Amino acid sequence: MSFLAHSLSNIKPSPTIAVSMKANELKAAGKDIISLSMGEPDFDTPENIKQAAIKAIQKGDTKYTAVDGTASLKKAIIEKFKRENSLEYKPSEILVSTGAKQVIYNALVASLNAGDEVLIPAPYWVSYPDMVLLAGGNPMIIESSEKNNFKISPHALEEKITPKTKWLILNSPSNPTGSCYSAAELKLLAEVLLRHPQVHILADDIYEHLIFDGLKFATIAEVEPKLKDRTLIVNGVSKAYAMTGWRIGYGAGPEKLIKAMSMIQSQSTSSPSSISQAASVEALNGIQDYIKPNAKLFQSRRDMVVSMLNEIDGINCNTPNGAFYVFPSCKNLYGKKTTSGKIIENDNDFASYLLEEALVAVVPGIAFGAEGFFRISYAASDEFLKNAMRRIADACSKLK
Ligand SMILES: Cc1ncc(COP(=O)(O)O)c(C=O)c1O
Repeated sequence: MSFLAHSLSNIKPSPTIAVSMKANELKAAGKDIISLSMGEPDFDTPENIKQAAIKAIQKGDTKYTAVDGTASLKKAIIEKFKRENSLEYKPSEILVSTGAKQVIYNALVASLNAGDEVLIPAPYWVSYPDMVLLAGGNPMIIESSEKNNFKISPHALEEKITPKTKWLILNSPSNPTGSCYSAAELKLLAEVLLRHPQVHILADDIYEHLIFDGLKFATIAEVEPKLKDRTLIVNGVSKAYAMTGWRIGYGAGPEKLIKAMSMIQSQSTSSPSSISQAASVEALNGIQDYIKPNAKLFQSRRDMVVSMLNEIDGINCNTPNGAFYVFPSCKNLYGKKTTSGKIIENDNDFASYLLEEALVAVVPGIAFGAEGFFRISYAASDEFLKNAMRRIADACSKLK
């Protein structure tokens, strides 16, 4: 009998982290690998935020804080919701955690009983289904189509709702597709959700500030206020402020849920880092004027990557409106023979071929519940990206 818990039998390590590790191993072995598998901005944390952390250390903010976050960070989060999303929250409706990831995990552990269903639109962020399984629930996948920019329709949503449905997870802008729901699209989903009061909504807004083409960010609790008391908004400083390593995320939602999540946190990790919280206050309250130029920069990289990919025979790539990912299709290359004589039968084969032949690391779509695609993160310099796209084009041209 295995020593390890039965609950682990359905869980796999994060495939995106696995690809990054494999790429790092090859790099350490001296191979000239270009990794397009990372999920973080390539620029540094802004100086004012770093200085706030240094000041916090110097003035002795180095102790445990309140489990659910410092009063000053909660205040900054409440002001952020008012300023950017026209949403009002009380301090008791806010929880600060060690990354948005921990907020999501706390929420699922706090709410799921065996047999409870969680609706997850595919392609999905790799961690959602595994976190649901770890918390004892059943992930229920809602398919979407490339033609609809990987967004679910109200009809597809309603078809999957059962009396056991506890959550719908909505992630816009999306990892891995970069797709964004407009306010009008969210309104249509909200109409369905209003008919099913047992369903709560987990809105993962972590890519809120990475939105392009003049599209305005929308979150469902703002679009349909009647859903606010059954919505948990998850957000954080990782992506907008280039603070992935600082590990600060936050949730805003019904007090009862937040209290339960905080209790779980109190018995697992306690408060998030005091220094990172002080830095996050500065991130949210300080100057915001680099956020828009950063999004513009990502938009121009997106344009370059999408156009270079679409020039490759056999690759088709949509133009997403947000995040820093594209999710092209490689299905038209199935059946082709690689330089080592292997036939490409699926996206895993294709990603392995790119790693071997082009020395470029991408993540196969199957990791995100969508076979036939691959994810490229374009959080890298233009030069780096151009080089990577040339290598991919070259490797594809060698397929027979
Ligand atoms: C969709 C999505 N949600 C949440 C997270 C987690 O963010 P954090 O670094 O704040 O834990 C990520 C990170 O990659 C993500 O892509």
